[in-house]
Amino acid sequence: MANQTLKNKKIIISAGASGIGLATVKVCLDRGATVFVSDINEKYINKLKKNSKINKKLFVFNCDASDEYQVNELFEKIKKKTSKIDCLINNVGIAGPTATIENISTDDWENTMRVNVFSHYYFTRLAIPMLKKNKGGSIINISSGAGIMGFPLRSPYAASKWAIVGMTKTLSMELGKFKIRVNALCPGTIKGDRMIRVAKDKAKLLRVSKKSIEKEFISMASMNCWIYESDIGKMCGFLISDDAARVSGQVIGVDGDAIRLH
Ligand SMILES: NC(=O)c1ccc[n+]([C@@H]2O[C@H](COP(=O)([O-])OP(=O)(O)OC[C@H]3O[C@@H](n4cnc5c(N)ncnc54)[C@H](O)[C@@H]3O)[C@@H](O)[C@H]2O)c1
Repeated sequence: MANQTLKNKKIIISAGASGIGLATVKVCLDRGATVFVSDINEKYINKLKKNSKINKKLFVFNCDASDEYQVNELFEKIKKKTSKIDCLINNVGIAGPTATIENISTDDWENTMRVNVFSHYYFTRLAIPMLKKNKGGSIINISSGAGIMGFPLRSPYAASKWAIVGMTKTLSMELGKFKIRVNALCPGTIKGDRMIRVAKDKAKLLRVSKKSIEKEFISMASMNCWIYESDIGKMCGFLISDDAARVSGQVIGVDGDAIRLH
């Protein structure tokens, strides 16, 4: 699946200034695409703006993906640069709290849903007319292993990621006739900043060492491995490319064969 060209493709990605999003932006740029990246973190945004392709093939915007008004404004800005797009990648998603459900506050629950689910709705409904104008394209929703399995101590996260799978399955059926493909990716345990944070929280809660939590994370895949951010970027590259022209409605694990989540 190496190196499908993304030449002339125009791609919008949420939360693309670090992590999985950034790895995906790099794959898209390397393969010739033009990428419109939004993120909430000014520090990451400024770092990305140093990329040599800035304002040529790379456009970066500050936008809280969970804020309807800001997402509307973002699309107004993007539409000044292009009326059509080939792909939307709904990547934004926060880990949410690590706790048993009776210890999760309404605020934490609501915030997880707002960032992980409402954001996808805000982006998707504005991207669809641009994809239709393009006479087809692709929507990639980043779900999680927690969108196909239970995930103890992470109930709002799991609920939000199952919601993304439901949206994917429904939208692929609604949009197939417009040649708009909709797929969900379920990353496994990524070796990156987020997992370091999650492992620390879980170790504290269970009063065990961070190392033992990390070992347990890796053993959740039959391949006994971490997943890398670039693995997700490369799978996005395939799904955007014409090689995936007839792949839609799929929920695809990039997880080293995840066999359990705890
Ligand atoms: N990291 C993992 O192990 C893992 C596993 C499975 C699924 N996922 C999913 O993959 C996606 C990306 O994960 P990640 O680990 O790269 O994330 P991350 O926590 O590293 O954050 C990536 C980016 O999201 C931005 N962001 C956070 N809230 C935002 C908001 N409201 N609006 C705009 N930008 C915002 C941050 O500034 C950051 O640049 C998420 O949907 C996540 O749930 C991650």
